[in-house]
Formats: sequence, C-alpha cells, structure tokens
Amino acid sequence: MQRLHVTSGSFPYDVIVGRDAWRALKKFAATRYRSTFVLTERGLWRRWGKPFCAASGLKNARTVWVPEGEASKSLKMVERVAAALLEGGADRRTLLVAFGGGVVGDLGGFVASTYMRGIDYVQVPTTVVAQVDSAIGGKTGVNVRAMKNLVGTFYPPRLVLSDPAVLSTLDKRAFRSGLYEVAKHAILAGPPLFNQFERRLDMLRPRNAPALGPLLAQAAKVKVNVVSRDEREAGLRRVLNLGHTFGHALEEATHYQRFLHGEAVGWGMLAATRLSKRLGLLASPEAERIEQLIRRVGPLLPICDLLPERVLSLLPRDKKAVGGRIHWVLPERIGKVRIVADVPRRAVAAAFREVQRVEWHE
Ligand SMILES: NC(=O)c1ccc[n+]([C@@H]2O[C@H](COP(=O)([O-])OP(=O)(O)OC[C@H]3O[C@@H](n4cnc5c(N)ncnc54)[C@H](O)[C@@H]3O)[C@@H](O)[C@H]2O)c1
Ligand SMILES: [Zn+2]
Repeated sequence: MQRLHVTSGSFPYDVIVGRDAWRALKKFAATRYRSTFVLTERGLWRRWGKPFCAASGLKNARTVWVPEGEASKSLKMVERVAAALLEGGADRRTLLVAFGGGVVGDLGGFVASTYMRGIDYVQVPTTVVAQVDSAIGGKTGVNVRAMKNLVGTFYPPRLVLSDPAVLSTLDKRAFRSGLYEVAKHAILAGPPLFNQFERRLDMLRPRNAPALGPLLAQAAKVKVNVVSRDEREAGLRRVLNLGHTFGHALEEATHYQRFLHGEAVGWGMLAATRLSKRLGLLASPEAERIEQLIRRVGPLLPICDLLPERVLSLLPRDKKAVGGRIHWVLPERIGKVRIVADVPRRAVAAAFREVQRVEWHE
C-alpha cells in the first residue's frame, strides 16, 4: 500500500493506493462525522458494497443511487442527490463517500462542494480512469447541454482510497480505455514508469491486482505531483491534456457514441506524437516507442471515415484567450512535453490524416 500526499490550497490530503486501501477510512471517519452517506450506482454497490463496508468499517451508512452513465453528471441529478441528502438528515457534519468511477466522483464532489455550502467528501474510485486521474485533484463538475463540465468547482476530497481489486469487475473495454490514460501518465513521467509500463503491459488485466497495484500507484503519483504544484490549472496542469485536444474533437465528431473517453485520448496521443514529429520537436526513435506503447494497449475503432475539416473545426480552444488559441501538448521526448500555441493548421491536418491511415492488428 502506498500513501501519496497532495498539497492543495485548502488542505493537504492523502491518496492511498493498494490492496486494503479501503481500510484507511475506518480510522479517518471514526470520530469526525455525525453521519455518512455513500453516493454510488446500484449495480456497483450490489457487487462491492459489502466488502467495502466490511473493510472500511462503515456501519449504518445510507446510500444514494445514481443511474450509471455520463448523463448522471447533470444539474438535475445534483438537485436529486441534494434532496436525498436532506431527506436523510445530512448536515454539515456529514461525510459523503463517492464510490464509483469518474461520473460518480465528479458529481459527488460537486454536490459535496455546494451542499450546505460545502461538506467533506472522500473519493473511492472504482475505475482505472478514476484511480489514476479523476479522483485526484479536486476538480468537480457536471455537464450542461453538450458542454462537458461547464459547471464545476475546485474542491479537494479529504481522502482518496484506491484499491485495485475493485477493478476486477470492469469489462475489458472499459479497463483498456483506462490504460490509455495510464500510458499518458507514463509518457509525461518518463523512463522509470514508461519502461515499467512497457514491460508489464501484457500482464495488466482487470483481475491481476498484484501487477496492477504498483503501476497504478505510480500513475496516480504523476497526477498527485502535477496537481500539488498547480491545483487550479494556471499552467503546469495543462500537461495532463496530452492527447485530449484531438481526443475531445473525436468524441464530439462521433457524438460520444463510438469511443470511450480513454480510447479517444489514445487516438489523440497518436496524433499529437505525429504532429510533434512533423514540427521537428520529437525525434524518430522516441516517437516510435511512444506510438508502439499506445498501439500495444490495443486496437481502436477506426477514424478513417471522419472528415478532417470537421474534426479540426471541433478542436477545443482556450476560452480565456482572445481568439481562442489552441494549446497543443506535444511530446518532445519520453518524460517531457511542450505546450505550443499557434501550430499551423496545415501541419495539424497532415498529422491527423496520417493517423487516420494507422492500421491495427490484434
Ligand atoms: N475531475 C477530473 O479531473 C476528471 C479527470 C478525468 C475524467 N473525468 C471525468 O470522469 C468521467 C469518466 O470516468 P470513468 O471512465 O470512470 O466513467 P464512469 O464513471 O462512467 O465509469 C465507466 C463505467 O464503468 C462502470 N463501473 C465503475 N466501476 C466499476 C467496477 N469496479 N466494476 C464494473 N463496472 C464499473 C460504471 O458503471 C460505468 O458504466 C467523465 O465524466 C470525465 O469527464 C474527470
Ligand atoms: Zn482524460
């Protein structure tokens, strides 16, 4: 088990990763709170509620259900959850436990940050994406219309408890989608994690917690280090957007139907790698290794049918900057990325066309 330490403007908190991480809730919650509510999904809780309560010592916790899926990240759901908390007697000395993937975590964090002007919450992430990314850093939010995370807050959890054993029930595709985000952290972190990910990739399966644990702990550490230095995305935190510029555009171009988020990021990282190489920022052998690693995570559904002009028109722009420049996160080598604005559109289009032709073999 590893205990990682996050510094935040509000208060420091720990991210505990490894087998039996859930146990840490016992000591933490013992005397601090008058009541505990768990926000989760019904199917997930049916499978994991008992072992979680046994390990964490939660007794008499009330549960609040949300339907699974991105649609639960809505203001309507915020209202419903708040009403359920009120009805159950939750007050300012209530602890909210968000038990689930990024959807439950983002929604739970947002509710916690606003219910009675803020109550404490703990993240118990149950997907790869949530364990290495969304549960850490205190970004909360819900979607409004098609705009992802339009309404949100920075509100850190008091504790994050990640046990890799819970990943054993993830389906293969969801699991693999999370591995693309792990690959992203490996590219950002550099050789030790990158090499380890390369070596262990074939052993990473939902049920192989012993192989997953140490690797996910290191991937989580990448996020911990970044948000500890730049909680509110003044600069450094932007590096976490590697692969997300193209990724978001691809998700939108396919109406969020074709790809899981991590898969779109997988394509996005391939495109960013090609773009970086094209701009002369990344040398061939390193580009090759990055590309190989992403491809080894697994095949992605094709994008050859998408019109490049359409995808390019959907690239997310910086809303805070005049003219809405696009900030590209481009790998310069394994372990180093550079943020580049003003990349010529021609180069972007050419890089995209190149990856459209990438073929996958199982
Ligand atoms: N706050 C942040 O910094 C941040 C960062 C990255 C992503 N996100 C957000 O996270 C969300 C995506 O997260 P996600 O990929 O975890 O999606 P998710 O929460 O929808 O989970 C994916 C699916 O896995 C199921 N599931 C969860 N845990 C399971 C388990 N242990 N066994 C079996 N099934 C399980 C869920 O029911 C769901 O169907 C997006 O809304 C994204 O915007 C936020
Ligand atoms: Zn992501």
